[in-house]
Amino acid sequence: MGVLHLVMFYSFTFSLFYQEIHIAAYTLTPSQSIIDGQTLISKGAIFELGFFSPSNSKDRYLGIWYKKVSVQTVVWVANRDSPLNDTSGALKIGSIGNIVILNRTQSVIWSSNTSNAVENPIVELLDSGNLVLRDVKDADPKSYLWQSFDYPGDTLLPGMKLGWNLKTGRNTYMSSWRNSDDPSQGDYTFAIDLTKYPESVIRNRYSKYYRSGPWDGLQFSGAPNLVRNRVFKYEVVLNADEVYYTYQVIDQSVTLRVVLTQTSTEGHLQRLTWVNDTQSWRVLVSIPRDHCDDYALCGAYSTCEVMSEPACQCLKGFKPKSPLEWDATDWSQGCERKTPTNCSQGDEFLKFTGVKVPDTTGTWANMSMDLEECRVICLTNCSCVAYTNADISNGGSGCVMWFMDLTDIRNMDEDGAGQDLYIRMAASELVSESKSRTKEHVVVIVSITAVAGMAVLGLGSWCIWSIWKKRSPRGDHGKDDLELPIFDLATIKNATDNFAEANKLGEGGFGPVYKGKLEGEQEIAVKRLSKNSIQGLSEFKNEVILISKLQHKNLVKLLGFCMQGEEKMLVYEYMPNKSLDSFIFDETTSRLLDKQKRVDIILGIARDFGMARLFRGDQNEANTERVMGTYGYMSPEYAVDGHFSVKSDVFSFGVLVLEIISGKKNRGFFHPDHELNLLGHAWRLWSEDRSMELVDESMGNSCGLAQEILRCIHIGLLCVQKGADQRPTMSSVVLMLSSETVVLPKPLPPGFYFERSTPIKDTWSYSDKESCVSYDSTISMVEAR
Ligand SMILES: *[C@@H]1O[C@H](CO)[C@@H](O)[C@H](O)[C@H]1NC(C)=O
Ligand SMILES: *[C@@H]1O[C@H](CO)[C@@H](O)[C@H](O)[C@H]1NC(C)=O
Ligand SMILES: *[C@@H]1O[C@H](CO)[C@@H](O)[C@H](O)[C@H]1NC(C)=O
Ligand SMILES: *[C@@H]1O[C@H](CO)[C@@H](O)[C@H](O)[C@H]1NC(C)=O
Ligand SMILES: *[C@@H]1O[C@H](CO)[C@@H](O)[C@H](O)[C@H]1NC(C)=O
Ligand SMILES: *[C@@H]1O[C@H](CO)[C@@H](O)[C@H](O)[C@H]1NC(C)=O
Ligand SMILES: *[C@@H]1O[C@H](CO)[C@@H](O)[C@H](O)[C@H]1NC(C)=O
Ligand SMILES: *[C@@H]1O[C@H](CO)[C@@H](O)[C@H](O)[C@H]1NC(C)=O
Ligand SMILES: *[C@@H]1O[C@H](CO)[C@@H](O)[C@H](O)[C@H]1NC(C)=O
Repeated sequence: MGVLHLVMFYSFTFSLFYQEIHIAAYTLTPSQSIIDGQTLISKGAIFELGFFSPSNSKDRYLGIWYKKVSVQTVVWVANRDSPLNDTSGALKIGSIGNIVILNRTQSVIWSSNTSNAVENPIVELLDSGNLVLRDVKDADPKSYLWQSFDYPGDTLLPGMKLGWNLKTGRNTYMSSWRNSDDPSQGDYTFAIDLTKYPESVIRNRYSKYYRSGPWDGLQFSGAPNLVRNRVFKYEVVLNADEVYYTYQVIDQSVTLRVVLTQTSTEGHLQRLTWVNDTQSWRVLVSIPRDHCDDYALCGAYSTCEVMSEPACQCLKGFKPKSPLEWDATDWSQGCERKTPTNCSQGDEFLKFTGVKVPDTTGTWANMSMDLEECRVICLTNCSCVAYTNADISNGGSGCVMWFMDLTDIRNMDEDGAGQDLYIRMAASELVSESKSRTKEHVVVIVSITAVAGMAVLGLGSWCIWSIWKKRSPRGDHGKDDLELPIFDLATIKNATDNFAEANKLGEGGFGPVYKGKLEGEQEIAVKRLSKNSIQGLSEFKNEVILISKLQHKNLVKLLGFCMQGEEKMLVYEYMPNKSLDSFIFDETTSRLLDKQKRVDIILGIARDFGMARLFRGDQNEANTERVMGTYGYMSPEYAVDGHFSVKSDVFSFGVLVLEIISGKKNRGFFHPDHELNLLGHAWRLWSEDRSMELVDESMGNSCGLAQEILRCIHIGLLCVQKGADQRPTMSSVVLMLSSETVVLPKPLPPGFYFERSTPIKDTWSYSDKESCVSYDSTISMVEAR
């Protein structure tokens, strides 16, 4: 045992009694002891162990501190709760092979918690700062019977594991010193909360004080400071045996520690590094960082944003529970739903991005489920409030669900951190949400539709479409104060030559559209709303008010309106060459339409479809049928059974969306590799995660709108699903298009995705059912192929 030497120290008196102590040692055998004044020094002289008195205290404690750091910095204290009041203490190996501290009367005032007797014990202070007890005879020098790293105080050293050993049930956590004079356990602890979705939590006594947010595979959801760096590496281990956080310095010359501090008013978890130049510790990170880190500052269902004033905001779809207190900046009561959810009424989920996810108490998690499975399970369990991916690395995996009120959410956008969170909402709440949002969008109002020759679902070759943008509120105009000129019926009659057939540009579900010329030679287009239109006076007024409030951006301008007797008309500027068809399907002009415009057009058409239904009474059935009969846009159930429903409309819309994006018509679509039609092609690309290949080349790559485009494709595919029941309603489509936070379900295969080989005459002009029946069989055969 040549290496076993003990330390000699400055007390001459001691050296008289302990003659064998003369060289610094890092181990202690049963025959040896360390008394006050003597120390153990780790092999590389990194750490030192001995008795000390903190700051102004006279009490003696056995502790470990840095050997080379000039300011004594204690990282571990053995007898923190049982100090010695004099220098009579001694560290020894006890009778059962455990580590003990004895006082003057040889009473054990502290001992290591060793369960089994050790035959050949040896104590060693490692260069990591770990004081370990092991059996000399044990071949594995890393097989510790006891180690101080399992019992940290206020300091987490590199290599320590903060968390749970699930086999033994031991929880390793940090606890602050009461104050700088008193290392006994203070008010603050920092531990990993062993929920189904573990997160680390600072507690003040028993109350939560700060939450890091759960480990999301990349970082702790609410702790943006913990990032990959060149100074230290960290690891979070979550498995059946252990759940812990640990870190290691990369450059061994760096001295780093994490400490949980306590002052009279607050606690902080700090990461510090020793700066040799200044001979002092520098704080690298200190949490809580700001008031938004204060646990549940904003109460339930609200979010905290540091830069906003007030800091707390109810989540979208929620309102303050107690508005008076809320306005007085007492946010503790939090927020409640504007519209209660009702599981049987088909709730939906709203996506919130870049948030520190809520307190994970009572969560449920499954690491092998994907996001869609997660959504389905959450939707079907009425007590599930929210869900998200448990792990966001590698594109996201795993499922975690919340069943309690969502608290302590924080907006992490400014840090580029945080996760997505999908919160259950009443479907009706989402609709009203979208209505208010849609107004802010640039919308395209496809205002006049259809003309003989090229009826594309009411979007004819003469299709005036326009982009309108919301004008900033004008202030004190009365509600009905229309700012648009009112045209006299006689003026319009004169301009259109009394609605002459020759001036008719087309006819849509709304009614006919006429070209006209005002006296000042200005050309106009008059949308004469069908007298049979079910749109009442108030709806018409609303539409006019809406349009008049939207600022003209380009193309088509609403010049005014006319309301006289039964006549309701909208008067637009005439644009001879602005056909949607020519823009989308003609190669030379398709370049003109950038991606954003296409997205806007889709949104506008979606709204238009919604509006079209307003106008469609029973009397207009023939008109509708003719439009719907256009091959390529027909839903399977209509084509096969002649069964038409609002969901058939949705199908047609989906086709149109995919056409707009791809710049190709569904009908007559040709691909060299397969016989699929456009729908089949889009579906195939989507399933292979290659959706962007669908996008029309002429769209170029100028605008970074990939997400929006993918979303449009996704929505298009949802609309063309084979089963009418699976297709979303048109209002859901508007919702999905206008709010990127609405979660989209996975689409099922589309109806009709094989193209027939024999081209068939476009059937838009047939209004009788027979013509549909005539190619029933063809389609059925195609399906059966
Ligand atoms: C230390 O505590 C013991 C027992 O409580 C007491 O007898 C002794 O006087 C104390 N010594 C000092 C220096 O306070
Ligand atoms: C030594 O410790 C024992 C047990 O804690 C205590 O009763 C005794 O008073 C202590 N003696 C001194 C001198 O501190
Ligand atoms: C010592 O171990 C026992 C049983 O293993 C445990 O109940 C006790 O809390 C431990 N004490 C300390 C101070 O770790
Ligand atoms: C730290 O600074 C001291 C002088 O203050 C110097 O002697 C020593 O080499 C430095 N150590 C390192 C690691 O830079
Ligand atoms: C949910 O909706 C169903 C069907 O409309 C209704 O009977 C039920 O009372 C509603 N439940 C709640 C809690 O509103
Ligand atoms: C987790 O999800 C997978 C896949 O859905 C399932 O097979 C497994 O049973 C689930 N595990 C638990 C504990 O629910
Ligand atoms: C919903 O999930 C919770 C938590 O997993 C579970 O306790 C409860 O039984 C589930 N309810 C239903 C109806 O499945
Ligand atoms: C009708 O239009 C003609 C020219 O197109 C014009 O001379 C005439 O004054 C107009 N009549 C009215 C009543 O506006
Ligand atoms: C409209 O298009 C035609 C041919 O498509 C062209 O000759 C004419 O100049 C265009 N008019 C305008 C105003 O662009």
